[in-house]
Amino acid sequence: MKVSLLEFDIHGDERGSLIALESNENFPFAVRRVYFLYDTKSEVRRGYHAHRKTLQLAVAVSGSCKIVLNDGRETAEVMLYRPEQGLLIEPGVWHEMFEFSEDCVLMVLADDLYDERDYIRDYSEFLKVVGA
Ligand code: TYD
Repeated sequence: MKVSLLEFDIHGDERGSLIALESNENFPFAVRRVYFLYDTKSEVRRGYHAHRKTLQLAVAVSGSCKIVLNDGRETAEVMLYRPEQGLLIEPGVWHEMFEFSEDCVLMVLADDLYDERDYIRDYSEFLKVVGA
C-alpha cells in the first residue's frame, strides 16, 4: 500500500535544530488536536484501530518506533526515527505501533477532536468498512 512519509525542512544553525509544521503548508490538513505517546513500554504494541474520518500525522520527535499500516488489502511497515519525517495516517487504515525506544515521544497531529465514534476497533468490522 502507498505510504505517505513527509519530509520536513530542518532549520539548523550552531544553536541547534528547529522544525516547523504548518497546516496545509507542509502537511495537508488543519490541526484540531495534538497528542503524544511517551514512556511507552518496549514490549507494548498499541493502536489496533482505524479511523472513519480522522486524518493524522505521526512524528517521532524523539527516539523511534515502528508503525504497521493496513488498508485491508496490503500492509506496510514504517520506522519513524527522525523528527523531520512525518507519517500520514489516513482514514480507513488500520494501524499498530510497536518497538518504541525508551526515549520515544510520538507526537500525533489530528484534523479533528477526540471522538470514540470515529474509531473502528474491531478488525472484522474494519474489513467490512473498507470493503476488503
Ligand atoms: P487509546 O485509544 O487506547 O490509544 P491507542 O489506541 O492509540 O493505543 O487511548 C488511550 C486513552 O486515551 C483512552 O482512554 C482514550 C484517551 N484519549 C483521549 O482522551 N484523547 C485522545 O486524543 C486520544 C488519542 C486518546
